[in-house]
Amino acid sequence: MNAQTLSPLDQRTLRDAFGAFPSGVVAVAASVRGQLTGIAASSFTSVSIDPPLVSFSIATTSSTWPLLREASHLGISVLADHHDDICRQLAGPREQRFDGLPFAVTEDGAVLLDEAVATFDVTVHEEIEAGDHLIVLLALHAVGTGDGEHPLVFHRSGFAKLHRDDLDPARLDGRINGAEVSRAPAADTEGDAA
Ligand SMILES: Cc1cc2nc3c(=O)[nH]c(=O)nc-3n(C[C@H](O)[C@H](O)[C@H](O)COP(=O)(O)O)c2cc1C
Repeated sequence: MNAQTLSPLDQRTLRDAFGAFPSGVVAVAASVRGQLTGIAASSFTSVSIDPPLVSFSIATTSSTWPLLREASHLGISVLADHHDDICRQLAGPREQRFDGLPFAVTEDGAVLLDEAVATFDVTVHEEIEAGDHLIVLLALHAVGTGDGEHPLVFHRSGFAKLHRDDLDPARLDGRINGAEVSRAPAADTEGDAA
């Protein structure tokens, strides 16, 4: 990229640039000492297969993290595209975050939302200071497929939907992502592992 197209790193420019990167959104939630606590987070990402680790970043100013980090287990729920209001609620006033929400609590206190696209049962593995956020590494103990179908997408401060019907096997009619593909095995790869 031509350096002349780069802008100075003021906060507005950074927020706009970071917002260009689309992500999913998760609920990070637990019941801690009988109190439901949690947030919405778009910074969730997978980290490691062996050992199984995931992460998210939490602002150092968070008023929720001091309690949430005490949870013996936390639930991560990947929000579905009809969870936009639930996402706003989970980012809103703390005392109303779980009002009317459909969820289940595991024996270990992880809170998992109904109709999520996937769910993870995790414990805090490590907290790494990173500027005005903490990167929270989470050890993964169990995964659920969730009963939601399409994920909620967060992009440029707004919610979007992602419909991957191009990957529905019933619709694979020789095209993947718009490109022509041959479904026939290539002659010279016979016997090779896929
Ligand atoms: C779509 C969306 C994504 C968010 N992602 C994060 C995140 O990754 N990390 C974070 O610290 N806060 C994130 N927030 C804000 C939190 O959900 C919450 O509002 C914030 O932590 C303030 O509440 P607290 O003081 O109770 O922590 C996000 C909010 C929204 C609406």
